[in-house]
Amino acid sequence: MSPASTQVQPQDKPQEALTRQRVLSGMRPTGALHLGHYHGALKNWVKLQASYDCFFFVADWHALTTHYQDRESIERNVYDMVVDWLAAGIDPEQATLFIQSRMPEHAELFTLLAMSTPSSWLERIPSYKDQVEKNRELATYGFLGYPLLQAADILIYKAAFVPVGEDQTAHVEVTREVARRFNRIYSPDRAILPEPLELLTDTARLTGLDGQKMSKSSGNAIAMRDAPEVVEEKIRTMPTDPQRVRRADAGDPKRCPVWPLHQLYSSAEVLTWADQGCRSAGIGCLDCKQPLIEAIQKEQAPWRERANEYLSNPKQVQWIVEVGTERARAVARKTLREVRSAIGLSY
Ligand code: TRP
Ligand code: SF4
Repeated sequence: MSPASTQVQPQDKPQEALTRQRVLSGMRPTGALHLGHYHGALKNWVKLQASYDCFFFVADWHALTTHYQDRESIERNVYDMVVDWLAAGIDPEQATLFIQSRMPEHAELFTLLAMSTPSSWLERIPSYKDQVEKNRELATYGFLGYPLLQAADILIYKAAFVPVGEDQTAHVEVTREVARRFNRIYSPDRAILPEPLELLTDTARLTGLDGQKMSKSSGNAIAMRDAPEVVEEKIRTMPTDPQRVRRADAGDPKRCPVWPLHQLYSSAEVLTWADQGCRSAGIGCLDCKQPLIEAIQKEQAPWRERANEYLSNPKQVQWIVEVGTERARAVARKTLREVRSAIGLSY
């Protein structure tokens, strides 16, 4: 672990809003969220909102860096995602929710930071070259600028902490370098842009229905708002230990794609029961899957209830975003004033 990363350790007591440190994170709107998003990010956001001044935003410009041709689905994806956040328990009274593209301030800071950021810092980001080689449609100026736009997202709110998965740590690292360089050039006496730390989310990636990492594009996901029957069907048809062909064959949970899900959702007793039953062929795979199906359905029930409230009242979701956008804008404007003046642009 790099010295700048730290495990999530929410403070014990919520502090007054004025002194709470700021946490900022964003998600690209890829449509309805799945259990991987919940366990990999959202659950952590919900925990953080009580102790920190949390800003959570929809990174729709970042979505456009790769999906710039998808103009039909972006709006629906944005609102589906905000509903999933609210369903998961993000509380708009505690956290500030907003949409990146409603904040042209991010674009202004991005432009100003671009002036002094060496392009080599962006070109050398691991995965950048690979992705462009794999997909020539990504050979754009916007995609090269992805990490710098992310730096602007973070620095404009002077965030102290940025909860992200492991795949994003290089971006937070560049953000620190960008801040350091800006401060050195334009405000050597008083750092205007604080260097953020990442809060590394436990990256035990959730496996999907096929045992590979759960992702929407692989078609192996359980959506947060999948109906109970859909969850049941998806789990019942999941492949199991390939060596357990017949009911009488003993199996080994280690070879079974169902097992990682069981480990996440089931109690120690259920796990012992399933492990022994599998190895002795004492239980069938459908028996084994049943408590998992029920655990997932139970987890989803409150999400569905909250989501339904918001879905029947879309104006309320828009209002939440409206209020969040204005709150965020006040902070962003203040930083921009300082940045402009440091650069000598206050005429
Ligand atoms: N790049 C992030 C992702 O793909 C999304 C993102 C955009 C972000 N801006 C951010 C995350 C700022 C944290 C902070 O997940
Ligand atoms: Fe997998 Fe459970 Fe079947 Fe064993 S009994 S192969 S762990 S589903």
